[in-house]
Amino acid sequence: MSTFQNSLPDLTKPVPTGGPAIYIETYGCQMNVYDSQAISGVLEGAGYRLVENELVADAVLLNTCSVREHAEHKVISRVGEIRHRRKDADLAPAVIGICGCMAERLGDDLRKGPRAVDLVVGVDNYDALPRLLGALVGPGAAASTGKGGQAVTGHRQDAHYVAPPDLYPTNGSHLVTIHKGCDYKCTYCIVPMTRGPQSEKAPEVILAEIEQIVAGGGREVTLLGQNVTAYRWQDRLDFAGLIEQVAAIDGLERIRFLTGHPKDMHRHLMDAIGRLDKVCPWLHVPAQSGSDAVLRRMKRLYTAAEYLDMVEYAQRVIPGVTFSSDFIVGFPGETDADFRATLDLVRRVKYDQIFSFKYSERPGVPAAKLADDVPLEAKKERLAELMDVQQEIWTAAANAHVGDVVTAVCEGAARRPAGAIRLRTANNRKVVVTGAELAPGAALTVRLTGWEGTTFFGEPVPA
Ligand code: SAH
Ligand code: SF4
Ligand code: F3S
Repeated sequence: MSTFQNSLPDLTKPVPTGGPAIYIETYGCQMNVYDSQAISGVLEGAGYRLVENELVADAVLLNTCSVREHAEHKVISRVGEIRHRRKDADLAPAVIGICGCMAERLGDDLRKGPRAVDLVVGVDNYDALPRLLGALVGPGAAASTGKGGQAVTGHRQDAHYVAPPDLYPTNGSHLVTIHKGCDYKCTYCIVPMTRGPQSEKAPEVILAEIEQIVAGGGREVTLLGQNVTAYRWQDRLDFAGLIEQVAAIDGLERIRFLTGHPKDMHRHLMDAIGRLDKVCPWLHVPAQSGSDAVLRRMKRLYTAAEYLDMVEYAQRVIPGVTFSSDFIVGFPGETDADFRATLDLVRRVKYDQIFSFKYSERPGVPAAKLADDVPLEAKKERLAELMDVQQEIWTAAANAHVGDVVTAVCEGAARRPAGAIRLRTANNRKVVVTGAELAPGAALTVRLTGWEGTTFFGEPVPA
């Protein structure tokens, strides 16, 4: 299979048209976005046609997330909704397949019960999709759904996808997965189970993938992994070394990465980020909690003080650095004092943005052995308070930035106001500008005139 086993897709091959129509819908993290791109490449290469609407599809693939219970519920009710919409429109039922983390976690169970789907394909088995779908749609397939379906899951350590470049990525940044899986054992987290052990894509494959993106006109990449900062190739290259090699690619202008683990933000890595102009000064470094007792029970492998040390060092060596983070509230045993420690950390770091979640117990993870003892009401209150504190911090920061002159890169047309364009700064701030015409990828000097939510408004500054 051309997109598997570390080989680049052959873009010179014409894409066949007229095959069975497949609609893919993506849930969860950026790694799933990349994987959906890989799935599209695999299917197009095998003569399938990708469509944008479930009602015109022969098969619907849902690329799913298991990280919280809510994420899984959404997908299950979506399966019902797809069935109903097809029925209401007097259409034959579509074949429905579940890919991604839910496929890996639940396997064949997804083919049972009232919301049973036809096909289940885990994260390391997308190369089998053309064959599996072939049994269900198109010429020679079983006439009705439910026949010929199966569940194919299980980790294949050395299988890595190389997705064909997405020519029009939504936020202007081309995703490049550099490794898969996770070797950490954060006690609340399902990802090590669904994605398996950490396994690196070879550096030469990553570099070739990025060179191909640049050859296609791309100027920015986001290096992806659950723990990119733990990247290590055969004891001769770590993440700092990798970004140095990526930065050496001619024509590439900006490098972002997701997600960094605070424990792996070594000083030499931060030095490299500060030194390499192409690496954007924005660190998404999830803290999860500000309480050492909670961090210990989460097995996050750092203390709040160590986290703050990392932030301080980054501020020293990375000019203009900004931070974002994830937080979990209501982890088992979290007291009010623990939660106050989280608020304290948030106030100290002054994040640009945080993503905060109520703890959701996942079956089979180590924390499932701890009593989920923070009442739902308390979780909700803490979440609301955390969001209020962040809003206060951001309001002060955003107000202080009004009047700043910044460089931002165009990502395309803004949703509103009419005729406006949307841009992004190196530290991941969104800016909407009216009165400028610019192609995606082009840079503009902008004066910030105001803000709303997480978006600034700006006007072009004449050169
Ligand atoms: N690899 C990344 C993120 C993994 S999942 C990291 O280590 O930070 C994305 C986010 O979902 C996590 O940062 C965490 O905040 C949240 N999350 C993971 N498991 C969760 C759970 N069981 N309940 C609530 N939030 C969870
Ligand atoms: Fe999950 Fe922790 Fe791995 Fe992140 S580092 S994916 S939170 S186990
Ligand atoms: Fe969700 Fe799987 Fe990503 S659980 S967050 S889609 S790795």
